[in-house]
Amino acid sequence: MAKMEVKSSLLDNMIGVGDMVLLEPLNEETFIDNLKKRFDHSEIYTYIGSVVISVNPYRSLPIYSPEKVEDYRNRNFYELSPHIFALSDEAYRSLRDQDKDQCILITGESGAGKTEASKLVMSYVAAVCGKGAEVNQVKEQLLQSNPVLEAFGNAKTVRNDNSSRFGKYMDIEFDFKGDPLGGVISNYLLEKSRVVKQPRGERNFHVFYQLLSGASEELLHKLKLEQDFSRYNYLSLDSAKVNGVDDAANFRTVRNAMQIVGFSDHEAESVLEVVATVLKLGNIEFKPESRVNGLDESKIKDKNELKEICELTSIDQLVLERAFSFRTVEAKQEKVSTTLNVAQAYYARDALAKNLYSRLFSWLVNRINESIKAQTKVRKKVMGVLDIYGFEIFEDNSFEQFIINYCNEKLQQIFIELTLKEEQEEYIREDIEWTHIDYFNNAIICDLIENNTNGILAMLDEECLRPGTVTDETFLEKLNQVCATHQHFESRMSKCSRFLNDTTLPHSCFRIQHYAGKVLYQVEGFVDKNNDLLYRDLSQAMWKAGHALIKSLFPEGNPAKVNLKRPPTAGSQFKASVATLMKNLQTKNPNYIRCIKPNDKKAAHIFNESLVCHQIRYLGLLENVRVRRAGYAFRQAYEPCLERYKMLCKQTWPHWKGPARSGVEILFNELEIPMEEYSFGRSKIFIRNPRTLFQLEDLRKQRLEDLATLIQKIYRGWKCRTHFLLMKKSQVVIAAWYRRYAQQKRYQQIKSSALVIQSYIRGWKARKILRELKHQKRCKEAATTIAAYWHGTQARRELKRLKEEARRKHAVAVIWAYWLGLKVRREYRKFFRANAGKKIYEFTLQRIVQKYFLDMKNKMPSLSPIDKNWPSRPYLFLDSTHKELKRIFHLWRCKKYRDQFTDQRKLVYEEKLEASELFKDKKALYPSSVGQPFQGAYLEISKNPKYKKLKDAIEEKIIIAEVVNKINRANGKSTSRIFLLTNNNLLLADQKSGQIKSEVPLVDVTKVSMSSQNDGFFAVHLKEGSEAASKGDFLFSSDHLIEMATKLYRTTLSQTKQKLNIEISDEFLVQFRQDKVCVKFIQGNQKNGSVPTCKRRNNRLLEVAVP
Ligand SMILES: Nc1ncnc2c1ncn2[C@@H]1O[C@H](COP(=O)(O)OP(=O)(O)O)[C@@H](O)[C@H]1O
Ligand SMILES: [Mg+2]
Repeated sequence: MAKMEVKSSLLDNMIGVGDMVLLEPLNEETFIDNLKKRFDHSEIYTYIGSVVISVNPYRSLPIYSPEKVEDYRNRNFYELSPHIFALSDEAYRSLRDQDKDQCILITGESGAGKTEASKLVMSYVAAVCGKGAEVNQVKEQLLQSNPVLEAFGNAKTVRNDNSSRFGKYMDIEFDFKGDPLGGVISNYLLEKSRVVKQPRGERNFHVFYQLLSGASEELLHKLKLEQDFSRYNYLSLDSAKVNGVDDAANFRTVRNAMQIVGFSDHEAESVLEVVATVLKLGNIEFKPESRVNGLDESKIKDKNELKEICELTSIDQLVLERAFSFRTVEAKQEKVSTTLNVAQAYYARDALAKNLYSRLFSWLVNRINESIKAQTKVRKKVMGVLDIYGFEIFEDNSFEQFIINYCNEKLQQIFIELTLKEEQEEYIREDIEWTHIDYFNNAIICDLIENNTNGILAMLDEECLRPGTVTDETFLEKLNQVCATHQHFESRMSKCSRFLNDTTLPHSCFRIQHYAGKVLYQVEGFVDKNNDLLYRDLSQAMWKAGHALIKSLFPEGNPAKVNLKRPPTAGSQFKASVATLMKNLQTKNPNYIRCIKPNDKKAAHIFNESLVCHQIRYLGLLENVRVRRAGYAFRQAYEPCLERYKMLCKQTWPHWKGPARSGVEILFNELEIPMEEYSFGRSKIFIRNPRTLFQLEDLRKQRLEDLATLIQKIYRGWKCRTHFLLMKKSQVVIAAWYRRYAQQKRYQQIKSSALVIQSYIRGWKARKILRELKHQKRCKEAATTIAAYWHGTQARRELKRLKEEARRKHAVAVIWAYWLGLKVRREYRKFFRANAGKKIYEFTLQRIVQKYFLDMKNKMPSLSPIDKNWPSRPYLFLDSTHKELKRIFHLWRCKKYRDQFTDQRKLVYEEKLEASELFKDKKALYPSSVGQPFQGAYLEISKNPKYKKLKDAIEEKIIIAEVVNKINRANGKSTSRIFLLTNNNLLLADQKSGQIKSEVPLVDVTKVSMSSQNDGFFAVHLKEGSEAASKGDFLFSSDHLIEMATKLYRTTLSQTKQKLNIEISDEFLVQFRQDKVCVKFIQGNQKNGSVPTCKRRNNRLLEVAVP
């Protein structure tokens, strides 16, 4: 079944006509009949050329399935029966392939199906454009922005259960491949008065009902709300439930959509808190309270609701309460506060609720835009979808309807501009034969409303800004004065008497004859709504909220940014945004969907002819068909046309030299297109029928295929030929090489065979000669051999005989010897046993010792005294000899070693020996001194001119000259001193000047003390009562302590014949002047690294910390 449909053309199985252009005869009656007939057969879409008329079926039809999407995908517009998908496909492909920005303009009355149409377009585009994870996310976000915006911006009206109460224009952005990148949504004037009051039979915005019925207990509790609608003043009760609408389910859908679009949980919650706040604001009630001056002052009746609002929004209750009771007017640095009466307080409350809600809505749009905005900066192609509130006529029409209808006027204007006017003007411009078709141009109505000097909006603004008392009545009066003569304006009070008798026209109203019908506007509320005033106290209170979202919605409440200038009025804002929209639309290629409402009852299957007739009239659809029929479906400049189709004609393919127009003429002639199907304009070719165009396209497609085949053919031929030539050349080369190789091989074989044969023959010949020669030689040699054998035999015989003779002679001698031996043994037997054993033993021993010494001589170890090697002992009985020999040898080599020493070195060793005896195993510093040679005079005084005086002062031999640290007796700090030791004296001199500071005769030195640790401190104790001891003992530290102490000891010993007392102890007493001070060495304190530190603790203790 589906397959059948796919094949059907616009013309097949057609109910009525699918394209009104084909309608015959054309008049209003046939037009409506055709629509009705199609509507009755569930054909809700009909074309007028490329414009789609859509009649709202008010029931779901099975024509939007994925299979349908596939059917319409990439098909020509007129190929299948009319459908909104065909238009979407055309727009999308034109965007993708021809790089033309598109806009889809959807117009119609409220409830005619615009919003549905816009969603269908979007879902179709989403279904056919690119695929992939990233692209899908973009699509999903774009589509899911709808439920969110609908929840907050749509409401049930008497015309439509899901009426958009804001205008929406959405730009979908694509990359060059046609993959969606993102989008931008613009919103136009939300009908915010609905927040506080709804006309009978209508509801507030969906979100309020959705929240109350869909939120969990927990969430409601958090938002301090109750499920019962009747608890809230702002919710009208008479239509709280809408048939077929499940608010609770929709709430879940909205939450889910918010999540997909990218709202964080926190953001979503904040939004719901604002919604709750708005609801609860409606429950704040005021009561009058008399004041002294007789005026009434309003007071809040029940503060509980206020308290909860403040808790929800984190506003200080007092601040909000005050904002509801006072109004502060600021002018030129002056602030005047007046109290509000009850009516003013209610006005303030409602203004706050409206503002809060409408600002929340704008915030939502911005937030969604942030999520769906394209992430790249590449050039984008744009498809705009405009779904704006439809033309509205209610019982009571107010400012909102006025604005909405103005917007529709503008859209009609753009439709007229682009389809009726522009098209006709183009024919004239292009010099095409043309009979003008009349249509109603609504520019005059637009002018009535928007004219900058005397348009209604300008009047309203003027009235709002005028000083003095301004009321809706004064505004009406003004209108009466200015617009009275305008054809489309009617009012009871107008000076022009033409309406004086029109009793259908009440006072305090004015009527405008819109293109779509007359609308009576109640003037009440115009001034207020245009002013859109929110008392500053309230906006400031809101700004003080702890709730971040609410705070951000009221930036003007920031006292630091007080702006005394009036904000632009609602009317002028709207006018400006509509103007921008129009400008934007004009730059794009328009695609029209004109929605028609078949009845006022929102019911399926009912086609109210008069209602439809009215819409057709004001939409100018009949004129549209006429222009379309008289005109041409398609036009294109000559150059691109020739470029596109030149391959269809031999003369123009591949290059046409002449002017493009004549090229196209030739082309069309060649193709035998009937003359009436096209016309030549000045710069463009006009094609009357789309079918002709499609025919051209088909031919082109066919031709392109042929051309492609041709190119393919030539290319394949070329490829095969070159391939063949290459193969042929290669074959010749290979054959040549192979032949050469084969011949070489054969030659080699023959050559080697010849050699083999040759060698065999030569071998055979040589062997033959050899055999002959051998035979001759053997014949010659035979005689000699025989002779030799004969001689040999004779000689051997002689030898045998001689041997026999000799043996006989020898036997005689042996027997004789044995006989003699026997005789001797018999004679000497008695002597032998007594002596032989001892002699043999001695002899053997002697031999062994001799051998031992000879061996030792070879195995002697080296002459180094430290060589521990000694040959092992060969015989046990030589043990003591072996040891003794080792000892003697060691002593001998030591002596030999010592004999090499000079006297000086001997002295050094003596000194080292002395040091070892004094300090080994007693002082931890000792082992490090073993390797250091004792130099004594580290400081070469004689060579340094600085010390000349010092040198002169000393006559004796200097044993030690070294810089030491002298520890200050008072504080433990150290100073450098030159330490000099001579044969008789110990001297201390200043390191810089060389001046002698102290001189101590060695006889006065009694003792040297030091610690057992690894430090260089030592004390030199002096004889009590001696002259040198007046200042006390010395405490030094030196790097060469061991050497100095040793030298001091030796010198004292040699000079005074007394052993110097050397005390090694970690605690010893030192005489400092009169005091005896204990020098104590303690372990530890790594702070100063490895340097020992000295500190005077008190006058009895000097502490040296040794690391
Ligand atoms: N193509 C359609 N198929 C089925 N029902 C539709 C279709 N178009 C509109 N409707 C019905 O009409 C109602 C109103 O349509 P809507 O698009 O909201 O009107 P508008 O935006 O023009 O005010 C929708 O809620 C839906 O029930
Ligand atoms: Mg709508």
